[in-house]
Amino acid sequence: MEFSLYTPEARDKIVALFTRVFSASEGEAEGRNIGDLVANLTSTTPADQLIGCVANDDTGIAGAIFFSRFVVPSGQLAYLLSPVAVATESQGIGVGQLLIQFGLDQLRARHVDLVFTYGDPAYYTKTGFMQINDSIVEPPYPLSQPIGWLAQSLAGGAVPAMQGQTKCVAAFANPDYW
Ligand SMILES: CC(C)(COP(=O)(O)OP(=O)(O)OC[C@H]1O[C@@H](n2cnc3c(N)ncnc32)[C@H](O)[C@@H]1OP(=O)(O)O)[C@@H](O)C(=O)NCCC(=O)NCCS
Repeated sequence: MEFSLYTPEARDKIVALFTRVFSASEGEAEGRNIGDLVANLTSTTPADQLIGCVANDDTGIAGAIFFSRFVVPSGQLAYLLSPVAVATESQGIGVGQLLIQFGLDQLRARHVDLVFTYGDPAYYTKTGFMQINDSIVEPPYPLSQPIGWLAQSLAGGAVPAMQGQTKCVAAFANPDYW
């Protein structure tokens, strides 16, 4: 398995991967939604606010992940991890965790302080995320599943409590995603 940074030439294949993977796991409608989200994220996010990582094996793209700029009131440099997908036939053998680790290494190299995500704590705590709540860092929109609000400090230690609003990139500026 090889890991590399996302480049726009791979866009159509990556959109197709997300559509396929989420169709298989969550049904066709959700597959289309996530495919549209990735198409939107990759076309509307300024290049300096988006970091994508891709896992390739000898059959092609086996997984992909995106991190987009997330503005926090502490002024620290922060990113939001979302979404991530591993090809159905490659799931359960560690590709997702390696992809997340590769992504976090890319963020560390760019001196990013904090990484947030909104997902299953059982999965993301395997790669250093910890549950937080909206009194530590306020999410951009009310959360339908508050237990999924997660973050980690790339310098280690706890995520500092901060007061004020946060802001995600335009592709996630939709209360339905939260
Ligand atoms: C979720 C996903 C990215 C994980 O990648 P993966 O390569 O299959 O996972 P890994 O092999 O790295 O990790 C496997 C471990 O995570 C657990 N795991 C996998 N998917 C999980 C999920 N959705 N929720 C909770 N735990 C999960 C497995 O039980 C396994 O645990 P173990 O190591 O204790 O046995 C991948 O399965 C996927 O693309 N799923 C469909 C799309 C999706 O749900 N994406 C995440 C939301 S954006």
